[in-house]
Amino acid sequence: MDKKDIIKKIEELRIKNNAIILAHNYQIPEVQDIADFVGDSLDLSIKATKTKSDYVIFCGVDFMAESAKILNPKKKVIHPDIKAKCPMAAMVDAESLNYLKKDHPNAKVVSYINTTSSVKAVSDICCTSANGAKVVKSLRVKDVIFVPDRNLGLYIQRSIKDKNMVLWPGICPIHHNIKKEEILELKEKHPKAEVLVHPECQPEVIDIADYVFSTNGMVDYARESDVEEFIIGTEKDLCYRLKKENPGKTFYPLKSAVCPNMKKITLEKILNSLKTLEPKVKLPDEIMKKAGLPLQRMMEVGRGD
Ligand code: 13P
Ligand code: SF4
Repeated sequence: MDKKDIIKKIEELRIKNNAIILAHNYQIPEVQDIADFVGDSLDLSIKATKTKSDYVIFCGVDFMAESAKILNPKKKVIHPDIKAKCPMAAMVDAESLNYLKKDHPNAKVVSYINTTSSVKAVSDICCTSANGAKVVKSLRVKDVIFVPDRNLGLYIQRSIKDKNMVLWPGICPIHHNIKKEEILELKEKHPKAEVLVHPECQPEVIDIADYVFSTNGMVDYARESDVEEFIIGTEKDLCYRLKKENPGKTFYPLKSAVCPNMKKITLEKILNSLKTLEPKVKLPDEIMKKAGLPLQRMMEVGRGD
């Protein structure tokens, strides 16, 4: 089947099945193009709770599809490739986190949404890159255990001085690998460009950025700003959305910033999911209940950028 026929079939089946297609900002361009909604982790979670569709086809990595399911226990959430997993989410497990909790009995646990549902189930509240500092500030305790992204934790710490934050040593391999030299080289070639980076980047990259945003934060800022050129310090396919929504502006991606797991979802796999209505996200009831609480608490805090 050629691409045109696949897209036509996807259109037919999405209507027939009353399905909505949600896609993260890092999805490949052709998946972004056919999605009903493209967004960051927080926006996609919010969208999943608002939809009236029977099926949510979630184009992103595992923890995002799981969060959509946990927030909508009655909906059928389909993840077109269950092998699309976030390696950072695998860097902390519930058992090890429980050991750390014993060492800090008065601490609240904030887990980044990039975690497994078992880790969420033993956490007090979740956050995304769009509301990390707001979530930590909302806690009425001094000690906070933050898992798993150390770089995001260090970034949050910059604006919060009255908490003791215990940081887990996890990282996003893609953002941690972004080199300040690569950005400085681009900046030398394009001196008028503003540097926008994601808070999963290392502190030395944060230090040379003009602004630090979640992926949707970058989309909103680029739209509102009078600046016409931007160096984008996050996964490179965010630039596809940025360019599509701002045709008159120029976005310089970091060519090495590619999340291979985000590229596993293809049009063919989406079509297959719409035909078979599989693979559905399935989680044990107990985990669904326990992981739902920290996610709900995060939703009550809302966006912070
Ligand atoms: P956003 O929530 O900013 O989209 O980030 C998700 C993510 O996985 C970043 O690597
Ligand atoms: Fe996970 Fe990093 Fe990929 Fe985001 S970019 S999904 S944090 S590996």
